[in-house]
Amino acid sequence: MILILDFGSQYTQLIARRVREFNVYSEVRPCTIDPSTVDLSKVKGLILSGGPASVTDSDAPAFNTAWLNTNLPTLGICYGMQLLAHHGGGALGRGAAREYGPSTVTVEASAGLFENWKKGERLAVWMSHGDHVEKLPTGFACSASSSGAPIAAIYHTSKPIHALQFHPEVVHTPEGKTLLKNFVYNIAKCAPDWTPGNFIEQSVKRIAEQVPAPAQAICALSGGVDSTVAAVLVSKALGERLHCFFVDTGLMRKSEAASVMARLKELELNVTLVDARERFLGELRGVTDPEQKRKIIGRVFIEVFEEHAKSLEGVTHLVQGTLYPDVIESVSVRGPSATIKTHHNVGGLPERLKFSLIEPFRELFKDEVRVLGRELDMPTEILQRQPFPGPGLAVRILGEITPERVKTLQEADHIFLEEIRAEGLYVGLWQAFAVLLPVRSVGVMGDGRTYDETIALRAVTSEDGMTADWAFLPEPLLRRVSNRIVNEVKGVNRVVMDISSKPPATIEWE
Ligand code: XMP
Repeated sequence: MILILDFGSQYTQLIARRVREFNVYSEVRPCTIDPSTVDLSKVKGLILSGGPASVTDSDAPAFNTAWLNTNLPTLGICYGMQLLAHHGGGALGRGAAREYGPSTVTVEASAGLFENWKKGERLAVWMSHGDHVEKLPTGFACSASSSGAPIAAIYHTSKPIHALQFHPEVVHTPEGKTLLKNFVYNIAKCAPDWTPGNFIEQSVKRIAEQVPAPAQAICALSGGVDSTVAAVLVSKALGERLHCFFVDTGLMRKSEAASVMARLKELELNVTLVDARERFLGELRGVTDPEQKRKIIGRVFIEVFEEHAKSLEGVTHLVQGTLYPDVIESVSVRGPSATIKTHHNVGGLPERLKFSLIEPFRELFKDEVRVLGRELDMPTEILQRQPFPGPGLAVRILGEITPERVKTLQEADHIFLEEIRAEGLYVGLWQAFAVLLPVRSVGVMGDGRTYDETIALRAVTSEDGMTADWAFLPEPLLRRVSNRIVNEVKGVNRVVMDISSKPPATIEWE
């Protein structure tokens, strides 16, 4: 594998993704880690990431220089390059030569990472640095330059050490993939053997060993991508010893509980439907505060899950679809203690019930989970499903949640999604949904006055849900949706469109 030491760059996870796109496994670890605690026999190359600090600052992240004596093939990116220069007898400069954004580098030597280019050729790159290398470290030569950084890329003339001042991992460096590939395949000599098929085979073997018969495992399914693919994978290892629960909170989309259950059964999962609709809606009666709604739903979910877990004999393990971005964050630069986010998938449940966790995707990104799902022959309908929040429609019904208002929202949301799908827009959108507002307004229908509620339509595009932009939907589609909602959904006489991006708004309304 390629080990990436994280110095806090916003692009560190992207480096890991790129390396994995070459079918080579890579992992991000905090820069503070001690090499003696890592099994170096598994590491074929080291990448030192970028970072916001200056190498010479007193508050620069702590770094164990023993990494520089491991003799591992090494690639320094931005901050990583400055670190290599600083510890290798070079000198750094700061100030006038700051570069942020698109730039161009000129190849100075057709060597190392730049072996595909001739001297004098120019490459578009993405720079983001205040400091730059002013004097070459001992044993290094310059392989590329830019106007802001005369030493924009370096390589050691006798050791497999390379460094780039710019960011090869971002799309704004079009040739970045070739440069990274040269490091991964030619310098670190990794073989492209990390494939979905291998991953499944190894995971199934590991899980079977981790949960020897007659031990049993449980899994709460939401019908979403992560938990469903996790359950399918784990069931390959455990068969009927994996017990899945699907909790119907009464806050799902229209007819969704039934269709999700049908799909889960088709996947031959050992799944039980828990009908907790009355319980959830009962507990939510009269509650209008968004945070209180979320807290109640979290608590009731745990109670329901706990009751069902206890009804089974011999359960020792809990399956969760935790993903890599949940586990690492760029804040890992502050040290291992800050790297792990609390697991929020089933909120606090594991600790109380003392289950061992099975998290087969702890090292994967969401798109990698989708690839695994395809490899496992799962239907695209599940793999392409838009995200749906844990608290369900509760956070899309502003004001009090009543069975009538749930039904109103379900009907309106169903019409919106039906039209979005018919237009072929579903897959390209991160999310599209309806929101029921606690706002009544006057309207006229036929000859009568109405005084009814309002539906807001929300459609967003996004890469990861962290930021989002509102999607521009075709006018005829909006016209159809608006007409249909007002005509077909009782109690609604007005439809509005949410045109807010995130930030400053969030995707969900509560
Ligand atoms: P926000 O509203 O914070 O949402 O912009 C970002 C993404 O997260 C989803 N979301 C949730 N998912 N449990 C979940 O599993 C939750 O409590 C929750 N709240 C928001 C939201 O749908 C969007 O995709």
